[in-house]
Amino acid sequence: MTMPTEQDRVLIFDTTLRDGEQSPGATMTHEEKLEIAELLDDMGVDIIEAGFPIASEGDFAAVSEIAMRSKEAVICGLARANVKDIDRCWEAVKRAGKPRIHTFIGTSPLHRQIPNLSMDQMADLIHDTVTHARNLCDNVQWSPMDATRTEHDYLCRVVEIAIKAGATTINIPDTVGYTAPRESADLIRMLIERVPGADEVVFATHCHNDLGMATANALAAVEAGARQVESTINGLGERAGNTALEEVVMALKVRNDIMPYQTGVDTSKIMNISRRVAQVSGFPVQFNKAIVGKNAFAHESGIHQDGMLKNPQNFEIMRPEDVGLAASSLPLGKHSGRAALKAKMTALGYDLADNQLADIFVRFKELADRKKEVFDEDLIALMGAASEAH
Ligand code: KIV
Ligand code: ZN
Repeated sequence: MTMPTEQDRVLIFDTTLRDGEQSPGATMTHEEKLEIAELLDDMGVDIIEAGFPIASEGDFAAVSEIAMRSKEAVICGLARANVKDIDRCWEAVKRAGKPRIHTFIGTSPLHRQIPNLSMDQMADLIHDTVTHARNLCDNVQWSPMDATRTEHDYLCRVVEIAIKAGATTINIPDTVGYTAPRESADLIRMLIERVPGADEVVFATHCHNDLGMATANALAAVEAGARQVESTINGLGERAGNTALEEVVMALKVRNDIMPYQTGVDTSKIMNISRRVAQVSGFPVQFNKAIVGKNAFAHESGIHQDGMLKNPQNFEIMRPEDVGLAASSLPLGKHSGRAALKAKMTALGYDLADNQLADIFVRFKELADRKKEVFDEDLIALMGAASEAH
């Protein structure tokens, strides 16, 4: 078995257009999907899951066109464990420079009841469907849905079958966001150690955020040997969403000292795609969302603003330009202090003496107590009122 080297490359698999679009209400138009796929390709995402071709004519058309227009990225389509789904998926992705078929079936005790198959019958179906996919395409991903609630012995057995049938990537989904970081790592490690042929495939991690642990679980899986992270822009996805692409990529960049893995993503393109995905999906990004939230690079309190003005590293672990943001912001509110007010007044063209600053600071605090945020026009008005009073 090959042990991961220290500077291993982690593949970034984006499923904004498939799992992300499964968020109730997040449906995107054909044109919007093409645009998002192009942005993902341009930012250096390795694999784009463009949709679920059998799901609708619209999904088929979008996946086919994304495949045709793709540049560098592998274009992947999703298919259930049956020949019809797999054939339809292949029809859609085959025009890509680098096509991939992703086929899956639920393997946990609960999910095995859905098609009502015995363990042996399911094992045979996995063998047959992965073999069929591999006869069409040399890049096949297989996922045991609800892997984190599947018995370990059975999981090892079916993963081995999928590898022998020709799967090139084995994705381990935490479909219901149930696992926790240590368990996520242990599961990947266990599979790599126990399954014959594990060293010939890439293990992927696909986490959901039901308990708010999707990013932590994905990173733990990487440390245990997973080399593909499945994620979405802004963490869009079923229920509480998927692992957020921007979080994983920035965590690996900022904490490369303790997680020495590389991605191919140009992080300066993160903010733009985040905003576009928010617009086209109709899912606004929460203000305090890591990396891409409106407040992720905003500092309101006096102590923080003063520290930022002296040295941004006092309160920022990444530079705004690293994620494609022009600059951090120091919004003025009731917690702000003199240093930030002075900097803002200077930026607005006012060169204030100490006594003028003291006067305007009192007026500013009175206003800030009434208003959530004090804007440039408020300060200009305050200066007008102050000069009339004197
Ligand atoms: O969460 C999940 O299990 C999935 C599979 C289809 C991979 O999205
Ligand atoms: Zn999922």
